[in-house]
Amino acid sequence: MAVALLVAAGSGERLGAGRPKAFVVLSGRPMIEWSLDALRSAGVEDVVVALPPGEQAPPGCAGVAGGATRSESVRAALAAAPPGDVVVHDAARPLVTPEHFSATLAALAGADCAIAAAPVTDTVKETGEDRLVTATLDRSRLWAIQTPQAFRRAALERALDVGDELLARATDDAWLVERAGGTVRVVESTPANLKVTTPHDLRIAEYLLADRLPRPSAP
Ligand code: CTP
Ligand code: MG
Repeated sequence: MAVALLVAAGSGERLGAGRPKAFVVLSGRPMIEWSLDALRSAGVEDVVVALPPGEQAPPGCAGVAGGATRSESVRAALAAAPPGDVVVHDAARPLVTPEHFSATLAALAGADCAIAAAPVTDTVKETGEDRLVTATLDRSRLWAIQTPQAFRRAALERALDVGDELLARATDDAWLVERAGGTVRVVESTPANLKVTTPHDLRIAEYLLADRLPRPSAP
């Protein structure tokens, strides 16, 4: 079975909750625990968590100090991970399901990397600095990229073996695989696997997680 790298070392500046985002309480528990539940249900036992200063890894997980950027946190977690293929997930996506993990890992059979993504539903345009539209992109070919992102171990190691400047520019690790000439496949997801970035996102996540809370038993 693959090993999971759960990146949780961000400070959560845009959420502004006064503590690192992954540890903010969401529907009764630290946000990170929702992702851990899904990993466990998918049968992933080995989990390495990239941690912000002052926080502990949840029970049963290995913890490493995160880096200054997301990709540095991934690299630090990878260095501490036991052998095997890897699935990287942002603790900031608490709505992830066990199926996201199993589907991205299964798709590694035909690619170096397989990433969850939702079809783009908005029309996307490109502009110049002057905000004049220069192009309208073909929406049927566009995907909004999420995590989990699954990797063959060697492909991720190769992808992360780059200088700090390039690493800092990567908003996702799949891009680093693309750059290194690896194959990256999209696995269809839905917008419900949202990333909690702002207080508005936190409220939507709370609403969506209400379905997963144990219901009070009838009197
Ligand atoms: N992350 C990380 N190490 C960093 C930066 C980010 O492990 N140095 C993780 C975050 O904890 C999060 C994921 O990468 O799970 C996506 O990052 P983002 O949503 O930007 O989270 P934050 O960086 O915490 O938020 P902000 O940018 O608002 O400060
Ligand atoms: Mg960030």
